[in-house]
Amino acid sequence: MNAAVEWFPHVIGGERTESADGARFASVDPWTRRPWAEAASGGAEDVERAVAAAREAYDEGPWPRMSAGERGRLLHRLADLIEEHADALALADSRDMGKPVADALAKDVPRTAANFRFFADHARLTPAETYPAEGGHHIYTRYESAGVVVAISPWNFPLMLASWKVAPALAWGNTVILKPAEQSPASATLLAGLALEAGIPPGVLNVVHGFGPGSVGERLVSHPGVDRITFTGESGTGRAIAANAARNLTPVSLELGGKGANLVFADADLERAVRWSVQAAFANAGQVCLAGSRLYVQQEVYEEFLDRFTGAAARLLPGDPQDPATRIGPLSSAEHHAKVRSYLEGAERAGGKLMSTGGGDGWTVLPTTVTGLPRSAAIWHEEVFGPVVTVAPFTDEAEAVREANATRFGLNAMVFTDDLHRAHRVAGALKAGTVWTNCFFVRDLRAPFGGAGDSGVGREGGTFSREFFTEPKAVVMEIDGAR
Ligand code: NAI
Ligand code: MG
Repeated sequence: MNAAVEWFPHVIGGERTESADGARFASVDPWTRRPWAEAASGGAEDVERAVAAAREAYDEGPWPRMSAGERGRLLHRLADLIEEHADALALADSRDMGKPVADALAKDVPRTAANFRFFADHARLTPAETYPAEGGHHIYTRYESAGVVVAISPWNFPLMLASWKVAPALAWGNTVILKPAEQSPASATLLAGLALEAGIPPGVLNVVHGFGPGSVGERLVSHPGVDRITFTGESGTGRAIAANAARNLTPVSLELGGKGANLVFADADLERAVRWSVQAAFANAGQVCLAGSRLYVQQEVYEEFLDRFTGAAARLLPGDPQDPATRIGPLSSAEHHAKVRSYLEGAERAGGKLMSTGGGDGWTVLPTTVTGLPRSAAIWHEEVFGPVVTVAPFTDEAEAVREANATRFGLNAMVFTDDLHRAHRVAGALKAGTVWTNCFFVRDLRAPFGGAGDSGVGREGGTFSREFFTEPKAVVMEIDGAR
C-alpha cells in the first residue's frame, strides 16, 4: 500500500472493504499526471458479495417496506450531508478526472443534492392512476419497487451522473449497486459513506469499484440476481450491456453518446447565442454527452458570429483545476487526451482549418473551432468528447434541420432564434430527446431526459424514472357486490 495516496474501498453491506483478492488500481490526477488515490479493484467474488448484500437488504431489510415519506426523510438527510461535504466531494471528482473544482462546486455537487431532494419528494407526492369504476370494477395502480438495481456511471460528471440513477432508484424503494467509472472512483465511496451516516440502512447503497469488459461491470450486468440496469457511457458499451442483460431479460436504461447540433439563425440575439454556444461546446472541456459539438450558423451572420465565438473561446482560461479562475481543465486521462488529439489531426488531414493550436500543457486541449471540413470527416459524425467544435454555414431553415438530423445520435439540439414560430417549428422537426431554445443545459427533473438512435434507450426524470425503477401493478376491485 502506498501511504502517500488516498484510499477508496468498496462499500458492501455497510462495510468499507478491500477486494477479496486485495487487488487495487490507481486513480491518476490528470493535472499532476500522478496517482493521487487507490481504489479496490473488484472481481467475481466482490460482485457476488455485493449482489448478495443488495438482495438481502431488499428481500429482508426495512428499505423497500418503508413509506416513500420515511425514505424521503433519509434521502433529504443525505442531501444535507452532500451539501455539508461539498468541498471534499468536489475535490474528489476534480482530482479523479480533472474538472475545475469551481465548476464541481457550482454545478455538480448542488445538482447532486437537488437530485436526491427531488426524487425523495417526487416518490412521495406523485399520484398514481386510477380507472374509475366501470362494469362494477374499480382499478388502481401501485408502483412497487423493482428490486436490485445496478448503476454503471461514467467519469465526466462522476457524482452528478451517479445521483441521477441512485436517487430515483432509492426513492422508489430499490437497493443499489453503483459501479463508478474506473477513472473516477472516489466520490462514489464518499457518497456511500454519507448514505450510511444519513441512516440509510446497510446494503441499500453498495459501491463496487473496478473495470468494465471481463470485469465487475460485465459481471454485474450479466448477473441473474439483478432486476434493473441503468447505464451512462459510450454507445458501444451500451450495446454490450444490452446484449448481456438480454440473457436474463433484465430491463436496461441506456443514456449514451451524443453529437448535439446547435443552430444559430440570423434572427437570433447573437450575444446570447455566443454565450450559450461557448458553454455548449467547451464546458467540462467538452466532455459532455450533451455538448453542442456541431455548430451551424446562418450565412448572413456566419462571419460575425464566428469572430465573437472564437474570441469568447480564447478567453476561457486553461490551467490547474484547483485554481478558482480555471475554466478549462486537463482531459480526463492520457488515453482520452490521445484520442482527442488524433481527432484534431484527422480533421487537419481532411482539410479542416483549426482556429486554435489545439495544444495545451500536459493533457489539456485548448478550445478548438474547426471550419472548412467536408461532411465526410469523422469529426462531424463521431463523439469526440473534447473541447472541439466543428462549424459550417447554412442558408435556410430546411437546410439547417437537414444538417442537424444527419446523425446516428439523437440526444439533444440547440436552436437560437427570436422568431417564435421558427423556434417551435424547428424544435418539432429536430431528432433529439431534448431541444434547448435560446438556452443550454437547463434541466427540470420532471421532464423526460434521454435520447433516440445511438443515444440510448428509454428516458429518465420524474414519472419516466418511476416507470423504469418500479414494477407497476394493476389492482382490480369488484365493488358493486352484484357479481
Ligand atoms: P465506457 O462506456 O467504456 O465506460 C463507462 C462505464 O461503463 C464505466 O463505468 C466502465 O467501467 C463501464 N463499462 C465499460 N465496458 C463495460 C461492459 N462491457 N459492461 C459493463 N460495464 C462496462 O466509456 P469510456 O471508455 O470511459 O469513454 C469512452 C468514450 O465514451 C468517451 O470518449 C465518450 O465519447 C463516450 N462517453 C460518453 C458518456 C456520456 O455521457 N454519454 C460518458 C462517458 C463516455
Ligand atoms: Mg471504454
